[in-house]
Amino acid sequence: CKADKVYKIGVSQCSQDDWRAKMNDEINREIMFHENAVVEIRSADDDNARQIEDIKYFADNKFDIIIVSPNEAAALTPIIRKVYESGTPVIIFDRNIIGDTYTARIGVDDEGIGRSAAHYATHLLGKGTTAIEIYGLRGSTPADGRHNGFAKEYENEGGRLLASVPANWNKEDAIPVTDSLLKLYPDIDLIFAHNDRMAIGASEVARRHGRRDIRVIGIDAAPEIGIQAVADSVIDATFLYPTEGHRLIQTALAILKGQPYRRETLIPASSAVDLTNADILLLQNETLKQETGKMRLLKAQIDDYWAKHSAQTSLFYASIAI
Ligand code: FRU
Repeated sequence: CKADKVYKIGVSQCSQDDWRAKMNDEINREIMFHENAVVEIRSADDDNARQIEDIKYFADNKFDIIIVSPNEAAALTPIIRKVYESGTPVIIFDRNIIGDTYTARIGVDDEGIGRSAAHYATHLLGKGTTAIEIYGLRGSTPADGRHNGFAKEYENEGGRLLASVPANWNKEDAIPVTDSLLKLYPDIDLIFAHNDRMAIGASEVARRHGRRDIRVIGIDAAPEIGIQAVADSVIDATFLYPTEGHRLIQTALAILKGQPYRRETLIPASSAVDLTNADILLLQNETLKQETGKMRLLKAQIDDYWAKHSAQTSLFYASIAI
């Protein structure tokens, strides 16, 4: 029969985009397997104040656990600390806060991804090349990590990073930034962007400048945007930034049920997605989408069965009572 305690899990996403949509799909897929849990996902649309409100909403409405990807570390740390210290467990994922006032954190080795990107650039172009970097959002930890890893490794391998300018993780911001940088540094060999949306914007600008030869590397490898852009030769390579939505839900439930969990998880960097593997990854994604569709159907059938079953059971008890 159905479990009585239903855990309420609140997920506070800082943004809404292709990468987060993939993660939200994974969260919603995982929750289908736990009938004693419900999830609500809120997106702050890149706004610190809105994200603070979302976290307060979860706390005020007595959610059992809050999962947060903080837009900017410094701005979100105080509210997260407050909620955590008041006794509500908090899981931090992807972007970090300052300090460690959280129950668990699931992060990715951003420096490692930056190093892999630099290494790949040398493999693609040889040593002694020049690059510009389209930075994520200043004050969000993955951008700092990606920059540190890339800059060190690229320069170690004989490259020169000429400029690094933030474009706030957006294609719209990356376009004017790249345009000005290409006027200042017309002879560069490489554009390294901290995510695929910015890489795609940068590539479009490079082409407009008549520079199809500039190599462009991004990060995320969400299928519909990043991997598709590689398959279409809009960008040269991307690096997987794992989403792991299922792992977030499993960790949340382990915490709530008093089961063992890891306090710190750092997912390692992986190898490049380029023309050698983009098509097969897109194919796998299609399969996954179909399977998810079937799971949803099955879940709807089960829910329907339970609804009818419990209606019949209460009718039965009602007739006995009479
Ligand atoms: C999605 C995103 C990704 C990036 C990540 C960094 O909102 O901008 O593109 O890799 O956040 O936290």
